Amino acid sequence: MRTQVGIIGAGPAGLLLSHLLHLRGISSVVLEKRSREYVERRVRAGVLEQGTVDTLVEAGVGERMLREGLPHHGIELRYGGAGHRIPFEKLVPGRSITVYGQQEVVKDLIAARLAAGGDVRFEVEDVALHSLESQPYITFGGERLDCDVIAGCDGFHGVSRPAIPEGVLSVFERDYPFAWLGILARVAPSSEELIYARTERGFALHSMRSPTVSRFYLQVPADARLEDWTDERIWAELRTRLETVPGFTLATGEIMERGITPMRGFVAEPMQYGRLYLAGDAAHIVPPTGAKGLNLAVADVRVLTEALAAYFADGSTGLLDGYSDACLKRVWRAQHFSWWMTTLLHTFEEDDPYARKLQLSYLDYVTSSEAAATTLAENYVGLPFDR
Ligand code: FAD
Ligand code: PHB
Repeated sequence: MRTQVGIIGAGPAGLLLSHLLHLRGISSVVLEKRSREYVERRVRAGVLEQGTVDTLVEAGVGERMLREGLPHHGIELRYGGAGHRIPFEKLVPGRSITVYGQQEVVKDLIAARLAAGGDVRFEVEDVALHSLESQPYITFGGERLDCDVIAGCDGFHGVSRPAIPEGVLSVFERDYPFAWLGILARVAPSSEELIYARTERGFALHSMRSPTVSRFYLQVPADARLEDWTDERIWAELRTRLETVPGFTLATGEIMERGITPMRGFVAEPMQYGRLYLAGDAAHIVPPTGAKGLNLAVADVRVLTEALAAYFADGSTGLLDGYSDACLKRVWRAQHFSWWMTTLLHTFEEDDPYARKLQLSYLDYVTSSEAAATTLAENYVGLPFDR
């Protein structure tokens, strides 16, 4: 079997790449180890930057997102007994975010690929990459797929990055001493906008998915176990951390899904080796406080699509050679922003009273200075894709 681009992983990166390549007349095969049901149900990110929304709309896969997604024009930072709104419409006019679940994006992309006759294979076993320097191929479940190029879109725990010979990649990493416990609950959101809450007991986030479904996160110790967190304990902790301003009560409901996500920053450089190009979580991950993971995956795929289109049009390799450098600027900006949001809002056990005072002072600055708030807003809605 032969295709132009062999894509490993049917997450947002792999599926969007396959779709964008199809629009340019370039063939691809997507190989995914999980089932279609599994990837369509996997609850993860929810905040789409303006550039991500524009990309999906321009690619003809944004119709349901425009209908069902929730446009947001601000977020709240809550601490010290008060809420402070960061108004995007004032600080970054014309740019906003859309709250739309990652699994909905994945569903829309799978539907578009299958409707166009795309080759997306689920539940493939034993994916392995070979001959990356020239004439690369992928083996899986006893089959062989020859390709001009391989796109490693298989997430942080995939097989693409480890297929790069030792010594080629430089890895930059930051582990945080806490995790996020996330839940999806059948209850109307208690707020119209996202609330990022800093308390002495730790961070909490109130997000949502629809007028009847809410999403919440709690900062928990890195070694927290799901079985220690009963429904009652989760709701009690969310109320303690969120009901900190006068007149706000948190509505509770049935918990439909729960999970614990470690907090980590990670970048592998360069994002390419021979004929293999890494995109999305396969190359880098950010702590979710800045809501950047999914958006970075989309940005990588846009760059890779342009580079592959040039390559398949006339054999030019300039853009492909510059792929990693072109992506890494944005990746590092997102690393910094995600680290900054994380340190601004979480409690660190090692922090002494002096460090806590500094954190609160910085929060006061961000919520009172237009320049500082604009920095937050500009990064949160996402820098334009052409930078
Ligand atoms: P993925 O979505 O991870 O997709 C990779 C795909 O490759 C998967 O479908 C996987 O099954 C498949 N795969 C893996 N190995 C193989 C193999 N050997 N062969 C074939 N296929 C393979 N970001 C936020 O902004 N907010 C959040 O709340 C948030 N929560 C998260 C929770 C979790 C548990 C995780 C892991 C990530 C979370 N993220 C969050 C990050 C965000 O979801 C990712 O940045 C985004 O999914 C990246 O997309 P991707 O396509 O690069 O990778
Ligand atoms: C989410 O809705 O899942 C979400 C929102 C904002 C974040 C992270 C996750 O920073």
